[in-house]
Amino acid sequence: MNGGALEKQVEFGFQAQFGTAPAVTSFAPGRVNLLGEHTDYNGGYVLPMALQNLGVAVAMDAGAPPAKIEIFSMTLGETAKRKVTEGPSEHWSDYVLGCVQTVAAEPSSRKGLRMVLATSLPLGAGLSSSAALEVAILRAVTSLFGIHMDASQLARAAQAVENDFVGMPCGIMDQFSVSVGTPGKALFLNTRTLEHAAAPGLAEHAFLVVDSGVSHQLTDSGYATRVAECKAACEALGVKDLSELDHGDEDRINTLPAPLNKRARHVVTDNKLTQDGFAALQAGDAATFGRLMSESHATARCNYEITVPETDALVAAAERAGALGARQTGGGWGGAIVALVPATAAEKIGAKLVAQFPKAKLLAVT
Ligand code: GLA
Repeated sequence: MNGGALEKQVEFGFQAQFGTAPAVTSFAPGRVNLLGEHTDYNGGYVLPMALQNLGVAVAMDAGAPPAKIEIFSMTLGETAKRKVTEGPSEHWSDYVLGCVQTVAAEPSSRKGLRMVLATSLPLGAGLSSSAALEVAILRAVTSLFGIHMDASQLARAAQAVENDFVGMPCGIMDQFSVSVGTPGKALFLNTRTLEHAAAPGLAEHAFLVVDSGVSHQLTDSGYATRVAECKAACEALGVKDLSELDHGDEDRINTLPAPLNKRARHVVTDNKLTQDGFAALQAGDAATFGRLMSESHATARCNYEITVPETDALVAAAERAGALGARQTGGGWGGAIVALVPATAAEKIGAKLVAQFPKAKLLAVT
């Protein structure tokens, strides 16, 4: 279902739920990351691509009693009722509440809101369902309140909600690619300066996104541990960000105790692969790009230790089935893989993987 169709769905859902048409609707896509994993909170490079048809849609109006928010999720079939001023409570509606509080600075000026949500993104698949939710909510609330925020400001506001309200110490990659990126086009982003450029696609090739069916919950997982390990490695080496290091610093990295040495090695390796990947896209070199993807999976597995047997097996199977390269995408510990394949073989390779892995699902060919 494309973004427009999902927006229609929440519009109808709103009418059915509240008996009136919504004042605004919005959509924000998910993203698949092609290269550069866990480099974003280390000031490094990333290469994500906003997805064309998978995302989150919201319908909203300001009709609820003041200071109350009523949210109906069509996807979960659940309603959440929250006070505009309350703090987080480890509930999915925290993402909504945090965004609303960010936009309306003065609690007294916060109007009551009613909203209906729906998502076509699988949750916990590493495709940024939470960033899509945040950006969709921020787009709707800013439009409803007549507040101007450009796409990059909106991305930073969404990241702040995730860091400070939800309590997930993520970097800027997801929110930035979802808010600023063009669906279907890879975005090369320097996460330290936020300089970015659209990357060209690879003619006659496609990216397959396959969910392993093994889902993660990043707030409960080792994500925060990895962030802390990188910080400890920086302190030990006397640098601000691990992305300041490169392969020439290997001797220094080797002096770190395990597992900090492996974590730093991953960041340096994937940061370089991402820069090389952007160059390969610019040169139209699919074979090199595929190889870099597989190398990126290897460092995620051996050095960062964020892959799981299911995604390792899917990546290997994709390569055997004719992919030029493949890797687990997103925060880790399961979720989706992305594989670069010849466009003419995309459906066949996708079908083969799904047949081989009963829990797997082909989500996108882009
Ligand atoms: C999650 C986070 C991102 C990024 C990725 C790993 O998606 O939200 O900021 O760190 O994991 O690359």
